[in-house]
Amino acid sequence: MLREDFLWGFATAAAQVEGGGEEQELASGKGPSIWDWFCEKPGKILDGAKVNKTCNFIDNYKADLALMKSLGVNSYRFSISWPRIVPKGGKDDPVNEQGVKFYSDVIDECLRLGITPFVTLYHWDLPLELYQRYGGWLNKERAVEDYVRYAKVCFDAYGDRVKHWLTFNEPFVVAIHGHSFGVFAPGHTSNTEPWIVAHTLLVAHATAAKVFHDEIAPKHGGVIGITLNGDWAEPWDQTPENIKAAQDKMDVAVGWFADPVYLGDYPESMKQMLQGRLPEFTAEEKALLKGSSDFYGCNFYTTNMIKAGADDETNGNTQLLFTRPDGSYIGPESALDWLRDVPWGFRKHLNYLYKRYQMPIYITENGYACKGESDKPAEEAIHDTDRVNYYKGYLGAVQDAVNDGVDIRSYYAWSFVDNFEWASGLVPRFGCVRCDYDTFKRTPKDSSKFVGEFFDSHIPKK
Ligand code: NOJ
Repeated sequence: MLREDFLWGFATAAAQVEGGGEEQELASGKGPSIWDWFCEKPGKILDGAKVNKTCNFIDNYKADLALMKSLGVNSYRFSISWPRIVPKGGKDDPVNEQGVKFYSDVIDECLRLGITPFVTLYHWDLPLELYQRYGGWLNKERAVEDYVRYAKVCFDAYGDRVKHWLTFNEPFVVAIHGHSFGVFAPGHTSNTEPWIVAHTLLVAHATAAKVFHDEIAPKHGGVIGITLNGDWAEPWDQTPENIKAAQDKMDVAVGWFADPVYLGDYPESMKQMLQGRLPEFTAEEKALLKGSSDFYGCNFYTTNMIKAGADDETNGNTQLLFTRPDGSYIGPESALDWLRDVPWGFRKHLNYLYKRYQMPIYITENGYACKGESDKPAEEAIHDTDRVNYYKGYLGAVQDAVNDGVDIRSYYAWSFVDNFEWASGLVPRFGCVRCDYDTFKRTPKDSSKFVGEFFDSHIPKK
């Protein structure tokens, strides 16, 4: 069994679900994010989808929360859009009261239904203005100040009602996909920028967490953390070089962020690998970082087999980042090349995190996009057997890890509803609920019931 106070629900992010179209966006006072701008560039989004027209959560939030409630959730993880709160983003720029009210209403509705809100402050939608003014996360001094002011506005507005906060979602992806691969906004391809961006994100996280710990928690209580991705890296075989390669991969995928936050500095292997390219923390920053997160936030999707010296696909940034020999992908195929259904990796990953960082773990995302689902008519797509199988295996792995002694406190399925999957547009569908993108109609899939029944029978009733 899981803990009595285990939080479970679905996760979404503002940019991926909120938009109901351009007119709504203009009327809402929201400023553009780097993703609005990125979507206008030819060829950047697989199907040409626009981030301003996704699932219309803005008009549908009450019905969505009621549907979640009917599926049995006791929590909901969502993100706040920075450019909806501060349209131009900067510390001296005006706050959009309409935006502040929107999330206040969402939070009130959650609480009315007995749903605990779990709030992410940054899920990739940087105000475009900040990118244009000074390059966004590349400018540590200015970006940290602007982010912390935005965070403060949110803490002040919602801290009385929100007790679970995340500063950043998957900073790895912001740094690597946005500044090395160039496939996510702002689309840079550099072998120096990712390390600078990550450094800024870490300092911004720790500074905002300090404000929360000093000014908000004493008044209202609550916890704050950062949430990290990281697939499990399984050594190709038990030879010393492949065991080392897998550990190096974990150091980059997880340790790059988790080591500074929980242990106080970057992993030694990354310092060796990147030499002068990895920025150094000042003593003050190290102290600020260590212990800045009250828990370990974990997004988890898949497992890869890792071999030393295999070809990398990273435009030469770091060989260790993505060593993918043929056969590194295992398990059945999904709608996305990087995502395979490999449940056993999850149990190993959770045990690894708990042993290394010794923090309570909140699983903040886990989910699956079934191969070919977009090509099926709705009445077929809602019988999402592959997703049910995925959840069966991965939820079993969570229970196994709990039985191993890992302190796991939440689970959020990604995602509540099909949504905007960044550069892949609306094609891959991750929802446990179907979205009809013409009418915004929601239809629960089989997986939504499966996940609900799992938690109904695994969380002890109070
Ligand atoms: C992690 C990200 O946080 C989320 O935005 C994304 O949609 C899922 N992974 C699936 O790729």
